Amino acid sequence: MNRRQTPTMTIDAAQPAGKVSPLHYGLMTEEINFSYDGGLYAELIRNRAFLDSEKEATHWSLALAGGAMAKMALDESNPINSALPRCLRIEVATASRTSPAGVANAGYWGIPIKPNTRYKATFFAKATGGLTGPIFLLLQSGDGKTLYGQASVAKLTDTWTQYTVTITTRKGIAPTTDAKLVLSVEQPGTLYLGMASLFPPTWKNRANGLRPDLMQMLVDLKPAFLRFPGGNYLEGNTIATRFDWKKTIGPISERPGHPCPWGYRSSDGMGLMEFLLWCEDMGAEPVLGVYAGYSLRGEYAKPGPELEPYVQEALEEIEYVIGPVSSKWGAQRAKDGHPKPFPLRYVEVGNEDFFDRSGSYDARFAQFYDAIKRVYPHLKVVSTVGNEQPAAKRVKSRRPDALDEHYYRKAADFIKDSPTHFDKYDRSGPEIFVGEWGAHEEVVPWSPQSRGLPPTPSMKAALGDAAFMTAMERTSDLVTMQCYAPLLVNVNPGGRQWRPNLIGYDALRSFGSPSYYAIQMFSRNVGDEILKVTLTGSPLLTS
Ligand code: AHR
Repeated sequence: MNRRQTPTMTIDAAQPAGKVSPLHYGLMTEEINFSYDGGLYAELIRNRAFLDSEKEATHWSLALAGGAMAKMALDESNPINSALPRCLRIEVATASRTSPAGVANAGYWGIPIKPNTRYKATFFAKATGGLTGPIFLLLQSGDGKTLYGQASVAKLTDTWTQYTVTITTRKGIAPTTDAKLVLSVEQPGTLYLGMASLFPPTWKNRANGLRPDLMQMLVDLKPAFLRFPGGNYLEGNTIATRFDWKKTIGPISERPGHPCPWGYRSSDGMGLMEFLLWCEDMGAEPVLGVYAGYSLRGEYAKPGPELEPYVQEALEEIEYVIGPVSSKWGAQRAKDGHPKPFPLRYVEVGNEDFFDRSGSYDARFAQFYDAIKRVYPHLKVVSTVGNEQPAAKRVKSRRPDALDEHYYRKAADFIKDSPTHFDKYDRSGPEIFVGEWGAHEEVVPWSPQSRGLPPTPSMKAALGDAAFMTAMERTSDLVTMQCYAPLLVNVNPGGRQWRPNLIGYDALRSFGSPSYYAIQMFSRNVGDEILKVTLTGSPLLTS
C-alpha cells in the first residue's frame, strides 16, 4: 500500500442497513472476585453470621485492653434462630472500665472510614454470668490507638435481642481503610454475639443496600439490562450450593449464606430482591438465570420427575419477580417491600451447559422451556449452548428464543475476527445473547499465569473490546443483547479469582479500567440505525 495515500471512509446515510438493538449494552454479574461481599454489597463485617468456617471465627479476633482476659469460640448451643445455627461466645474472665474486653472485625481488607459519616450497626446479643452491659461499639484504627467513632447499648439481658445503633465518625479525620469494628464490655461474664452487621450510607439510602461509588460507576454505563445471578455462581459446585433463591430473601438474620464456587462463602445479603432493586435503581431490566439442575462438579437432576422440583423452583422464582400480589410468591415479594411486579422478558436456563458432562441439557432445557411457556408464554427462554459449541451439545428438542454465547478472547483475535464474525450465522435466529465477553491481552483468564497480571485490562485489551462491540452492534438483527464479564474485582491480595475485570476497588476507592471507558463510550452513545461504512486506503482495515 502507498503510505501517502489518504484513507477514505464513506458512510452511506441514505440507506440504513438496520436498527441497533436497544438491549446493547447490559451488565453481567455474579459472586466472584468479592463482587458483592467485599464489593458492591455495602456490608462491612466479614463473616457476620459466623458461618464462614466450622472450626474458628475467621475474621474475628479478641480485642483486649490493659489486663483484660477473655477467650472466644464458635457456639452451636445458642443459635439466634433456626436459619443461623452458630453464634460467637466470648467468655470474659477479667474486664473493667480501664481494661475492656471484646472482639474485633476488620471487614473486607479494612473498614472504610470517612469523616462525619453515619454507620449503622445491627447485632444480636445476650449475656450471662453477671454481665449486664453496657456494650460499646468502637470504630478504631487497626492498632487500636485512634478512635474514629463510637456508640453503646446500655443493657444486655440473658435472652437474644437485636440491637441497632448508629456510629457517627468524627469530623476532620482523613479517610482510611486501616480500621476495625470492636464490640467490648467492661465486666466479666459471658457474651454471646449473633449476626453482627455494619453498613455505611448506601445508594439511595436503601437498607441492606449497595455501595454508592460503585453504583454510580454502573449507572454511568446506562445499562439496558442485568444478567444475574451468574455465571458459575448460579450453578454452584454442587446442587446443595446452587443459588437457592428462596434462602436469599427476607431479613438478613434469616439468610445463612452458602459456599460459592469461587472459593469463599457468600453471605447471600445480595439476594433475589437486592438484585431486582439493583436493576430498578439502574433503570435496567432483569435477565434472570434460573438454576437448571446441573452443578459444576457434574452433579445433576435427571430430566423427568427428578428435575421437576427445580423446574417448580424456577417457576416460583419467576412468580416472585412478576407475579401479581394475589399469587403466593407475588405476595412474598410485596411482604419483602415491593408490591409492584418487576419487568421481565428473558429467562436463561442454566449457565454454560456445553460443559454438561451428563449429556442431559437438551432434555432439561425442554422440561424448563415447556413449563415456563405454559405459564408465561410471553417470556423468551434462553439456552446456554450457542452456535460456537459443537452441534452435539446444542439444544435440538426445542427452538430456544435466544442462545447465550461467551467470548473470552485475545484482543488481537477480536480485532481480526470482528469484521466478519457473525456473518456466518443464520439470520432467521435464534437471537444471540452474548452473555459474557471480554478481551485479554495474551494470557487466558483461566491460566495460572494470569495471577501475576493486573486485575483489570490494559488499553490493548480495551481496543479488542471496542472492535468486538462494533461487530455486535453491526449485527444487531442477530446479536440482540450483550454484556462484558466479569464486572467487578476487589484488588486486595486474595480478592480476585479471574482477570481481566471491568471495575476495580478496595474498601474505599474504585476505578474504571480502559475497557470500562471503552464500553461507556459505546453504551452512552448508542445509535438508532446501522449505516454502511466503506473504508479504502487504510493500512489497518479494508472494509
Ligand atoms: O465470568 C467468569 C466465569 O466465566 C463465569 O462464571 C462462567 O460462566 C464463565 O466460565
